Parts: sequence; structure tokens; C-alpha cells
Amino acid sequence: MRVLGIETSCDETAAAVVEGGREVRSSVVSSQVDLHARYGGVVPELAGRAHVELFTQVVTEALEAAGALDGAGGSPVDAVAATCGPGLVGSLLVGLSGAKGLAMGWGVPFVGVNHLEGHLFASLIEQPDLGWPLVVLLVSGGHTLLVEMEGPGAYRLLGQTIDDAAGEAYDKVARYLGLGYPGGPAIDRLAATGDPKAFAFPRAMRDDSYDFSFSGLKTSVVRTVERHPEAATQDVAASFQEAVVDVLVAKAARATAAVGARGLCIGGGVAANSLLRRRIAEAADRLGVPAYLPTLAMCTDNAAMVAAAGSWRLDHDGPSPLSLGADPNLFLPLIA
Ligand code: KG4
Ligand code: ZN
Repeated sequence: MRVLGIETSCDETAAAVVEGGREVRSSVVSSQVDLHARYGGVVPELAGRAHVELFTQVVTEALEAAGALDGAGGSPVDAVAATCGPGLVGSLLVGLSGAKGLAMGWGVPFVGVNHLEGHLFASLIEQPDLGWPLVVLLVSGGHTLLVEMEGPGAYRLLGQTIDDAAGEAYDKVARYLGLGYPGGPAIDRLAATGDPKAFAFPRAMRDDSYDFSFSGLKTSVVRTVERHPEAATQDVAASFQEAVVDVLVAKAARATAAVGARGLCIGGGVAANSLLRRRIAEAADRLGVPAYLPTLAMCTDNAAMVAAAGSWRLDHDGPSPLSLGADPNLFLPLIA
């Protein structure tokens, strides 16, 4: 079964063809970073319009690259999956409506996909032999979740951020430091040349739950730079990154041990962070479980993960109704 996946929840217009739920035949991602960079963040109205402009081209490229347009007549794919939430509503609607139109035109099933579940499926695509349960640290621009995954579709929430997402903290601190947008990659690069011990930034909620808090850290960075205007930006960046990664890894490792997980996995845009990847690998090593680090392209938003999650949902729950709406606040479906 060949599924066309479509992702337009934020500022990447993406389409991919995945076969058998796992084989990525094509994956096209068109980033709108240049469009939003001068505003220092994603401008929702501009993002929605850009998705409209890019949609046809990105979908066509994905179908062509997968060889799906080679056959004579018939439908190029067996189903169409699209992200229906969470995300920016004006952006979600573009991919969702486009996907429904294609499914109707081709006479194939349509399935709506939860973007967060998509991120969880990213590692499943690349790792055929996962042992369950897994602990997954999902860290993106909009979310910071620690999830126990018993298998596809079976998620238990261990903790989440009570304020800013980890990626949001990166983006806000980078903006404050004048490093531009998106902030994560910029801080990651600059931190490599700085001293992570230069400033002892706070580690919030270090000992209690599996929840996270990053807004105090951001404020602390601002106060520190105000007090030490002479501080080298790379030292601030490195110390900030050290504080974020320290907390993320400590909690993910503690959860892995507590749950008796058979693997520690990361996902979402911040999972592309070089220090986080290194520290998660070391932590997993210490715990004697495998670390699953998706490739960088599979960490950030893409449509292959949407097609993979969509394939599984289609098998498990069947198609979604064409009346399915976009839900900007959709949360991961949890088990008790
Ligand atoms: O998953 P994603 O592509 O989009 C959302 O669903 O939010 O994540 C984007 C986030 C942004 O906040 C970006 O700054 C962050 O991921 N990010 C990184 C890195 N690459 C992207 N954060 C830290 N280090 C990186 N290398
Ligand atoms: Zn995402």
C-alpha cells in the first residue's frame, strides 16, 4: 500500500510517499525559513499563503520522485494522509483540504494524522526492530513531551512542559542574542565554540516530576546578559544549551529506568541538536538500552512521518471522514 503524506502544520510544506508503512519512496520538504526569518519567527498568515503557493509543486515532486506518476491512469497512490493538528490553523487547513481533494479525485481513502504521533513514527520508519516499551522524548518548537510508548498508537504521558517548549526556548534565546531564526541550529553551532560552564543557568523542576519548565531559564539568560554585557555570546549559548540538555536528558534517563524501557528515543526538531544526541546516547549506554536517534531530516517536520503514521491509523482505525476539521490544539491520544 502506497500512502501520500502531506504536512503543513507550521512553516514547512512537505509531501512524501511511503510504501508498506515504512519504505520511504520520496520525501520533499520545502522550508519557508527565508520567508519568516526577517520577522524573527513564523508569521501565521504568511505561512498559510505560502503553503497554498507551494502545495501543488511539492506534492507533484513527491509523486514524481516516487515514480507514482509513471503508470497509465488510475490513482498514483492507495491513500492520502495529512496532518490535521496540532499546528497553525491556517496552515493546517491548506494541507488538509488539499489532501481531501486529492483523495476524492483519485477515489482513495483519506486519513487525518496527529502531528505529534507523526513525530513518534519518525523513529519507527528508520528502526525496524524496536523493543517495547520505549521512552520517547519529543522536543519540538511547540511541544516538550516525555512519553512511554507501549507500541504504535499506545502512548502514556509521563510529563510535559508547563510553559515554553524546548525549541521555543531556543528560538526566544536566539532571538534575544541576535542569532536569527530558527534559533535552535544557530545556538547549536555557536555553542560548539563556547564554554558551557561559563554561566550556571537554572535547571528548573530538576528533582520532582517528569515535567519541564523553560521560561525561567530564558529570563535568567536575559538577566545574565544585562548584568554581563561583556559576556561572549558563544559562552552564553553554550551555557544555555548545557542547561536545557542537562534537564532533558536527566528526566528522560530517569523515566527510562523507572519504566523499564527497552529503548530511549528522541524526536522533534530539537532532537537534531548535537549535544542532546550525544548525551542521550551516553545516557542510554549507561542504562544498557539502545538509543534511537532519528536522522536529522526525520527529526524536523517532514511528511514521511505523516504518511507512516497515516498508514498505521488507516490499518488500525480505517479512513477519516472528509468532514474532519483542523484542530490547532490536538493532543496525543493517550491510554490509561
Ligand atoms: O519539529 P519541528 O521541525 O517543528 C515543530 O513541530 O515545532 O521543530 C522546530 C524546532 C525549532 O524550535 C528549532 O529551533 C528547533 O526545532 N531545532 C533545534 C535544532 N534544529 C531545530 N533546536 C536545537 N538544536 C538544533 N540543532
Ligand atoms: Zn513538528
